[in-house]
Amino acid sequence: MTQTQEENQPVVTMGFSHQGQKRKEQIALMKKLQIRTQRDDAKFNIQLAKQIKRQTSPLKAKYNVERYDLVGDYVFPENVQNLIPSNTPEYVDRGHNYVERIIRALYYFKQCALIGPSGTGKTHIVYIVAEICGLPIWEINCGLQTSSYDLFGRYVGLGKENWIDGQIIQWCKIGGILYLDEANMMKQDIATRLNPILDTRGHVVLTEKDNEVVSRHPTGYLIISMNPFSAEFVGTKPLNAALRRRMAVWINFDYLSIGDTISPDEVALIQKRCKIDEDTARKIVKVGAELRRQYQNGDLPYGPSPGDLINWGVLIADGMTPLAAAVETIVGTTSDDIEIQDIVKRIVKATFNVKG
Ligand SMILES: Nc1ncnc2c1ncn2[C@@H]1O[C@H](COP(=O)(O)OP(=O)(O)OP(=O)(O)O)[C@@H](O)[C@H]1O
Ligand SMILES: [Mg+2]
Repeated sequence: MTQTQEENQPVVTMGFSHQGQKRKEQIALMKKLQIRTQRDDAKFNIQLAKQIKRQTSPLKAKYNVERYDLVGDYVFPENVQNLIPSNTPEYVDRGHNYVERIIRALYYFKQCALIGPSGTGKTHIVYIVAEICGLPIWEINCGLQTSSYDLFGRYVGLGKENWIDGQIIQWCKIGGILYLDEANMMKQDIATRLNPILDTRGHVVLTEKDNEVVSRHPTGYLIISMNPFSAEFVGTKPLNAALRRRMAVWINFDYLSIGDTISPDEVALIQKRCKIDEDTARKIVKVGAELRRQYQNGDLPYGPSPGDLINWGVLIADGMTPLAAAVETIVGTTSDDIEIQDIVKRIVKATFNVKG
C-alpha cells in the first residue's frame, strides 16, 4: 500500500529590529511530499521537499526596481532560506531613492558602499534590499574583534574532513549579500584577504586548506557601510585604500529631518508607528532635528535616529508626558552626562511648551 501526503510548510525567517512589534513568520513556502510504501517486509518512508517559486516582492514596484533581477532562476538552498529577511518595517525613501540606487549598483557592479551618520537607516535599508531581491544576508560587524578563522574557516579537529567554512566562504559558495558593517574598522589581515574576491579576480585562496580556490558565486553581492570619517569623533577611521578603490558606487545617507528642515515623511512615519496625533509627531521630529543639528556641529555626542524617536513616541502614546517619556528614552540615549542631558531636556521643554 502506498500513501502520499502533501503539506505546505512555512519557514521562519530573520527580520530587522521590530521595535516591539510582533514578528510574523513565513516567507518561503516549502512543498513537502511524503510517500510511505511497504514492500514485502520493508517499509519505505520518503520525504521530498521542493521550494514553491517565490512570488516577486510587491515592494519591487513600490521602489521602482522591477527592471533589476539579482537572482535569476537560482534557488537558494533550504538551509539559508531563513537568512532572507521578511516583514522588514517600512522604509521612508522618498526624495533620495536609496533603494533604487543600491539595487542598481548591485546589478551593474555587484557591490556598493553606504556612508552616513549613525541612525540614518543604513542597516535597515540593507534588510529591505535583501527582502525585495530575495537574497540571504551574511552580516559581519567589522568593529567586533572577529577573527579571520571565524570569517574564512577553520579546522575543528584533526583530519582534513574537519574543516568548517566561515561566513565569507559560505557567502562565496552560496551567494547572497555580504554586509560588512563598520567597514572602516576592519582589521588589516581580513581586508587583505578580501581584496582578490572583490576585484575582477573574484576568488579567494584558502592557504590554510591546501590552497583551495573558492570563487565568488554569481549572486554574491557586497554592501559595506560606515560612519563618515571625521577627526572630531572618536572611533571613526578612514577606510582602507584598497577596499575604497574596489567600490564603484558610494551612497551618502543623511537624516530625514535636520535643523529647520522637517520631513513630512518622517512626521508621518512617527505618527503611524507610534499611533499618535500629527501635532505631537511633528514636535517629536522637531526635537530630533535640532538634536541632530547639534550633533553634526559637534555639540552633542549623538543625534537620534527615527527608531529612537519612535521609542519616545510609543511611551507618549501610552499616556506618559512628553518630558517624562523623553527622560526614559532620547535623553538617556544621547548621553549619560547630566549636563548634556539637561541640554536635551531644555530642547524638549521648549518645543512642547513645558514650564519650569
Ligand atoms: N528612512 C527610514 N525609514 C524608516 N525607519 C528608519 C529610517 N532611517 C532609520 N530608521 C530607523 O532608525 C533606526 C536606526 O536605523 P539603522 O540601524 O538602520 O541605522 P544605521 O545607519 O545602520 O546606524 P549605525 O551607523 O549606528 O549602524 C532603526 O530603528 C530604523 O528602522
Ligand atoms: Mg547599522
